[in-house]
Parts: sequence; structure tokens; C-alpha cells
Amino acid sequence: MSRNLYFEDELSKEKFNGFMLKRLIKYAGTYKSTYIKVMVMLIGTSFLSLIPAAINMYIIENILPQNGVVKDNVLTQSIIMLSLWISLSVGAQIAGYITAKLSSKLGNAIVCNLREDLFKKLMELSFDYYDNRPTGKILVRVTNYTDEIAGFFINDMTRVVENVFIMIITIVCILFIEPRMGIVTIVVSLPLGFLMWFIAKKLHERVRNDRNKSSNRTAFVAEDINGLEVIKAFNREVLNDEIFVELSDKYHKAFMQTTRYREIFFPLSHGIIRIMCTVILYVTALFITTHNVGAGITLGALVTITTYMQRFSNAVFVVCQRLQSITNITANVERIFEVLDTPAKIYNSANAEDIKDVKGEIKFNDVTFSYVDGIPVLENVNLTVEPGQMIALVGPTGAGKTTIVSLISRFYDVDNGSVTIDGKDVRDITIESLRENVGVMMQDTFLFRGTIMDNIRFSKPDATDEECIEAAKKVCAHDFIMNKAEGYNTVISSQGSELSAGEKQLVSFARLILGDPKVIILDEATSNIDSETEKLVQEMFKTVLKGRTSFVIAHRLSTIRNADRILYIDHKSILEDGSHEQLVKEQGYYYRLVNH
Ligand SMILES: Nc1ncnc2c1ncn2[C@@H]1O[C@H](COP(=O)(O)OP(=O)(O)OP(=O)(O)O)[C@@H](O)[C@H]1O
Ligand SMILES: [Mg+2]
Repeated sequence: MSRNLYFEDELSKEKFNGFMLKRLIKYAGTYKSTYIKVMVMLIGTSFLSLIPAAINMYIIENILPQNGVVKDNVLTQSIIMLSLWISLSVGAQIAGYITAKLSSKLGNAIVCNLREDLFKKLMELSFDYYDNRPTGKILVRVTNYTDEIAGFFINDMTRVVENVFIMIITIVCILFIEPRMGIVTIVVSLPLGFLMWFIAKKLHERVRNDRNKSSNRTAFVAEDINGLEVIKAFNREVLNDEIFVELSDKYHKAFMQTTRYREIFFPLSHGIIRIMCTVILYVTALFITTHNVGAGITLGALVTITTYMQRFSNAVFVVCQRLQSITNITANVERIFEVLDTPAKIYNSANAEDIKDVKGEIKFNDVTFSYVDGIPVLENVNLTVEPGQMIALVGPTGAGKTTIVSLISRFYDVDNGSVTIDGKDVRDITIESLRENVGVMMQDTFLFRGTIMDNIRFSKPDATDEECIEAAKKVCAHDFIMNKAEGYNTVISSQGSELSAGEKQLVSFARLILGDPKVIILDEATSNIDSETEKLVQEMFKTVLKGRTSFVIAHRLSTIRNADRILYIDHKSILEDGSHEQLVKEQGYYYRLVNH
């Protein structure tokens, strides 16, 4: 799969369909009864809103004097009708209020569950997913897109559903009062239905496009904030601002295209609805003039049908008006389900088991691996590491050292061959227990926004303060932490700018040691530590790494030479394997590296 950049549109893999709508509603979860209540209320209010027209029909036909003759019980009947009319109006208002409240609750519940699922999925997805697209494009799906869905349920859903019901009920009522007129209404409105469908589809494509442009822009902003230091260092503010303006312009153009489409569509739909009503009324007038009104259609029925026609056209218009929100939501739902349906490449297989009492024997059996199909980074790598051994990996930049250690903790899966721990394929071990036993400190240290104590505790959430301090002492981090004004309570930002690079490494190291893993991977873990502290760290290595299998990627000879074995990695494989003394004696790649 090609990698998406911030200025490239992401292609939609899934298209909105009825199944997605059903799936979205399923997210109501425990609020399913609220969903049913909302639907019942909406049908109820749609009915209620149509009853006054029926009352009018009753009044015209049964209460108003006909041919100058005043009917009996006019006053009583008038009071009853008036009370009914008022009760219905008040009832409709109350029902409207309750429905709006319930639908807000429903919308929030759906979006809350959806967002939780989305976040869970994002945590589950393997690195390749993140390798393939900018983070900003993922962020908007969890934030903006879900917010818009909640907004739709809160502001638009009731209006859309209510008016769709009104459309159906008015047609049924007209059919019931005067079937011929009902049929005329259906026939005349069919082309409008098709037009709406066509426009909705077109609008949907436009919305997709403007979504793409807006997420390109967000991706660029997110990346710029992350790389602010570099931007400032290279005076790229103005140039990046220009790129932002260009991306913003593209979004603006896409948005205007959608708006223009909508602007054409609204008057068009309004015009069509008016023409439709005129046609129907014209047909009605023809009908009345060519038939005897009394025999063909009563005056009351005619007034009621005209009112229903009005309601019908209003309902069509309201739905048309909300078409943009509907298409926004369908485009968002597509994108969200796309993430939810992305299979996590690294997952627990059906026969995966926890590993217990890990001894730490690691084997690579004929391992071939590639990040990008067809371009292997490792080929036929074989390696056996005895429990408790310390292995140093050296080799040129980009040789594959980080890749080798990433395969042990299953950040990626091998293409061919296998990696085993104590004889068990890592793919047959549950990911949770594998990562509990294989502690990794990667090349790019990342600390979370929070106190130093919180960051150390990250690997063992139930650890006491004393345990965290103990871990910091083990890795020689205690002294520098105590020198900070707030000690362990010093708050660090997610960029960790309050700490020096070496201090960040020490805090990460303490975090790793607290988890007490049996296999430890240190990728350039001490590269930023001064040589004084490094000496202390070397001493500490002897105790901390004792009894654990460890893989250390380092450039400093002082770190490397202490290892039991040194692996020289290049040309997609392990070229040399032996102790410092052995490899120096062999006068091969390692020897040349040391001499350099
Ligand atoms: N996520 C990735 N997607 C695609 N290619 C990658 C990815 N990570 C690494 N590579 C490529 O794989 C090769 C090995 O990378 P790796 O990070 O393992 O090298 P390394 O030996 O650790 O280098 P360094 O000493 O610079 O850290 C490189 O050519 C690199 O460009
Ligand atoms: Mg590396």
C-alpha cells in the first residue's frame, strides 16, 4: 500500500449503505429503548401534527352552516373541537420537547460508544497502519467526524425522521380521503424523489472531497506542531504558512463547490415542490369542475387535502434542507467504519497462550521481513540467544538493528520464518503477556504529559511511589530528579522539553525497569547520556540486566564491549557474531568499526 501524505486525498474504501446506518444505530447499546421511544414519539408527533387538518374537515362538514342552515349542538361541538385542537397543539409541543431531549441522549450515547470503539481500535491497530498515513488524518475521525454525528442526532435527526414520517402519513391520508388525488400526488412526487436521490449522491461525493481537503489541512497542522522546533530552526515559518494557505484554499474551494451545489439544489427543490403542488391543485380544480363536487369530493375533504399537500411539500423541503447534514454524516460514517473495519495485522491468534516463567531464550529461524512488499530489510536471519545473555547489535545506519528487535516484541510480524521465545513462536503468545515479558526502550523516547512519577509508573499502574523511586535509583535517575524543584512531581509536557535528552532516557529507563521484564531491548537507550553518567549506567547494567536476556543497540564502545555477544548487522543479515575479543581478532567489519 502506498503511503499517504498530508497533501494527498485518502481514497474511500467503503461506501455508505443501509447496513452502516443499522450498524450506527446499534451503537445506541443500552440506550436502545431510548431509540425505540424516540421513534414512537416521532411517529406520534407526526400524527398529532396532522390531526388539526382533520378537525378542520370535521368543522367544515359538521359544524359550519350548510346552505344557510345552522346545525344542532354547534356550541358544544365547537368547544369540543377547540379543546381538542388546543390539547393537540400543547401535546405536540410537549412531545417535541421530550423527543428533542431523548434524541440528544441517544446521539450522545451512540457517539460515546462509537468513539470508545474507535479509540480501542486505534490502540489495537499495528504500526503499519500509522506508518501509512499522517496522524492528523486519524485524529479528525475520532474528534470532528464523531462530533458531527452527535450534532446530527441532536439537531437534525428528529427533524429529518419526523418529516419523512409526515411525508408518508400525508400521502396515506390523502389516499384514504381521495385515492385518485393520492395517486396523483405520488406520481407527481416520484421525479422529485429521483432528483433528490441523484443530488444527494452528487452532494455526497462533494462532501467526501471537502472532507479530504480538510483532513489534509489538519494533518499538516498536526505535523507542523510536532516539528515546530525544526520549522523554527530552519526559518520555515513563512514557507509553511504558504503551504497551509494553499491547503486551506483547496479546502475552501472544495467547500464552496459543495455549498454551490447545495445553493442550486435548495431553490431548485423549492421550485419543484411548488410546481408539484400547483400541478396537484390544478388537477384537483379540474377534478372539481368536471365532477359534481358533492358527489366526487366534499369541500371539507378538499380543504384537508390542500392542507396535507402543504404539509407534504413542507416536509419534502425540510428533508431537502437537511440533505447537506445527511451527506456530511454519511461521509463521516464511511470514514469511521473504514477504521473500525481495518484488520489489525498483529492480533492474538486463536491458539495464543500466555507465557509464564520466561527463561529468555530467543531464536530467529530463517527470518525474512519487509516493511514494503518486495523490498526485504532482513533476509534469512538465524540467531539463537541463550537465556540471560547480553547481545549488542551494531552496524551501519539503516542496516536493520531496530527492525530485528521490533520483531521480538511483535511490533511487526515476520514475512517468513519465525521468532521464538523459550521455543514458542511469538505469534502463539498472547500480545499482552509477550509485551509484559519483553520490555522495550525504543530509539525515540516518548514521555506523556504528566509528572515524572506518573511517567515511571506507566509500566506498572499499581506500583507504589516507593517502587517508582526504587526503579529510578536503579537506573541512576534519582539524583537528577531530586535536583528538580518539584522532584518526582515535576510536570513534563508530552514533548518532554523540560528534561534534557539524557534525562528523558533515564526516566524511560526507570519506566522500563519498574515493569520487571525478563527480556530487555534497549535501542540507543544511553546515546544521550554524558560519559560520567554513562559509567554509572554501565555499572547499573551489570546488576539490572543480570538474569535477563537483553538486546542493546548502541554506538558507544564502552556499552558494546560489555556484551556477551556482538552482532554486526548489514546487508539484510547478521554478518558477524561473537564477543568483542573474538570479533577484534577476526579483523572483519566490527574490527573496522572499532578502529574507525
Ligand atoms: N516503518 C518503516 N517503514 C518502512 N521502512 C522502514 C520502516 N522502519 C525502518 N524502515 C527501513 O528499514 C531499514 C532498516 O531500518 P532500521 O530502523 O531497522 O535501521 P537501524 O539499523 O536501526 O538504523 P539506525 O542505526 O539508523 O537506527 C531502513 O532502510 C529503513 O529505512
Ligand atoms: Mg535503529
